[in-house]
Amino acid sequence: MINDKLPKIWYGGDYNPEQWGEEDWNEDVRMFKLAGIDVVTLNVFSWAQNQPSEDTYDFSFLDAMMDRMHENGIYVCLATSTGAHPAWMAHRYPDVLRVDIQGRKRKFGKRHNSCPNSPTYRKYATAMADKLGERYKDHPALVIWHVNNEFSDYCYCDNCTAQFRVWLKERYGTLDALNSAWYTKFWGHTFYDWEEIVLPSELSEEWGLDNTNFQGISLDFRRFQSDSLLDNYKMEHEALKRHTPNVPITTNLMGLYPDLDYFKWAKELDVVSWDNYPALDTPISLTAMSHDLMRGVKGGKPFMIMEQTPSQQNWQPYNSLKRPGVMRLWSYQGVARGADTILFFQLRRSIGACEKYHGAVIEHVGHEHTRVFRESAELGAELHKLSDSLLDARVPAKVGIVFDWENRWAVNLSSGPSVALDYVAEVHKYYKALFDQNIQADMVGVEDDLSKYDIVIAPVLYMVKEGYAKKLEQFVEQGGTFLTTFFSGLVNENDIVTTGGYPGELRKLLGIWAEEIDALLPEQSNQIVFNKEWGKLSGSYECGILCDLIHSEGAEVLAEYGTDFYAGMPVATVNKFGKGKAYYIASSPDDAFLKGLVANLCADHGIKPIIEAPAGVEASVRTKNGEDLLFLLNHNAEAVKVNPGEGTFLNMLTGETLQGELELPGRDVLILKK
Ligand code: GLA
Ligand code: ZN
Repeated sequence: MINDKLPKIWYGGDYNPEQWGEEDWNEDVRMFKLAGIDVVTLNVFSWAQNQPSEDTYDFSFLDAMMDRMHENGIYVCLATSTGAHPAWMAHRYPDVLRVDIQGRKRKFGKRHNSCPNSPTYRKYATAMADKLGERYKDHPALVIWHVNNEFSDYCYCDNCTAQFRVWLKERYGTLDALNSAWYTKFWGHTFYDWEEIVLPSELSEEWGLDNTNFQGISLDFRRFQSDSLLDNYKMEHEALKRHTPNVPITTNLMGLYPDLDYFKWAKELDVVSWDNYPALDTPISLTAMSHDLMRGVKGGKPFMIMEQTPSQQNWQPYNSLKRPGVMRLWSYQGVARGADTILFFQLRRSIGACEKYHGAVIEHVGHEHTRVFRESAELGAELHKLSDSLLDARVPAKVGIVFDWENRWAVNLSSGPSVALDYVAEVHKYYKALFDQNIQADMVGVEDDLSKYDIVIAPVLYMVKEGYAKKLEQFVEQGGTFLTTFFSGLVNENDIVTTGGYPGELRKLLGIWAEEIDALLPEQSNQIVFNKEWGKLSGSYECGILCDLIHSEGAEVLAEYGTDFYAGMPVATVNKFGKGKAYYIASSPDDAFLKGLVANLCADHGIKPIIEAPAGVEASVRTKNGEDLLFLLNHNAEAVKVNPGEGTFLNMLTGETLQGELELPGRDVLILKK
């Protein structure tokens, strides 16, 4: 449980009462109670209010608001306010201001704007966490700390440059080691003094989005900036822990956000929380994958939805309303995949600046007679009914999908073979094939234990870190099924090619050699042709983006390319290795192929879909005390017929019992217990 002060799914969200006055505060609290809201996130962007000048702190507003919440039975997720520095700080100490990738020194403005290596920022952010910790450590409303907000983006200033050199000395020890890791003989880049090293900005090695001349430098820069921001988190975390060793601490992550290595981050958070902002046309499976990733970064532990909008966003190109029922549906999608909180951005709409048209539980009209409020209140009532019945429940999975931020950076930074290659999209294709058949998967990091899985899928495992090939071999030797794809096994963690033939260290396990890699034009495709049926696959399927030209070195050929000068060469292979099997898919296949492929792999291990359901019905299971809690989510606008399986089920939202086939209305949700 996140905090046993509040043993239910937390409900509420970001609340910025400093933007309005007493009259509204009274109304807010009245309406929170109507909506079943029991947690508010306070103080996210209040640094300037709490510290009006360098040596003055003023917590009177926050004191009063904390008390007001407590008096009304509402708990507080208390933010540290360090996500946007005060104007006086930027004016007096320009080192807090970032330098952007084009080398431009920023002026005061925006948010998420502090240089992580600024001595001023580090000093005052830590001091703020310390003061808040000391002041509110015994406050009865406090249930969790929320450090900063959406840590993000990179800085290219001189302080970061100096700190990068320190970070590199720690990583490499000597310049010789660094020069060889970065392959600096290329273009005569040898460094003879640490001071010669500069950041890979647009003034040096990089241009546009993820283009670089030196992948090794750019990779280390990303690791370093992710670590720098993480260090900002850690310094506040430590300051808070000194005062409140038993209050959990988090910061809101952003799902598939590219710039930070969340597997590394999650180790430092007591509980993972994240902000879920799908657009109307975001694939449901991509949102599901993001939830699973946010569960996965913390080894399967339940997580928090820290933010989602009750209705619309303001920052997307087209900010569609969530259709009636969709807010509830997407909330339960998170719960089904491991969320133990449903929190919104925001509880009341601002009336000025850029977020005034962002959805909120309380809209500009100021009363509760709105569609959005009604839907929010209905969900609030349901969450009270569910009480603690779902808290801490786990999501069981026998399939693991490998996801690695460093590999993602390396794939994106690679010059060639194709601009169409998108790591997340390739991972999502495999995820979706499982999702569409209601087969549950975990997203796993490269440091995670694989032994609990029957199947491990690692799409585009371009970077193979030290020891990882061995780990995969052991997994397969013991009976596991491993699958990887084109553009895998090529490089080590510095993006240096493993010579002796692709896929490098994975060659033995896969029993193949990839001789060449062809990049297809957007309008081109090739085929995956089965000469004999294999399980659910037969005939021909489309593939594209990249085609590895592979030779079997012991692997059985399952399918061959259909066209071009490499027609007849293998495109799908399986290699027996110990007690298990290792598959290689040499190109990026269509959905029909992937569906059959994962079904075949699962059938081999007796892994069955949670239920057979019509398209658009998501089924997911959480388990608690040995019992399965089955979620059925109808993402269709129309009603469908579903059969939850044999036996009698308790509908946890209504208390009714159900049996056999039932009708699930459009966008409705069922949570069933056998
Ligand atoms: C982010 C931020 C919030 C708010 C929302 C708007 O998630 O954390 O402060 O700006 O976006 O969608
Ligand atoms: Zn900086």
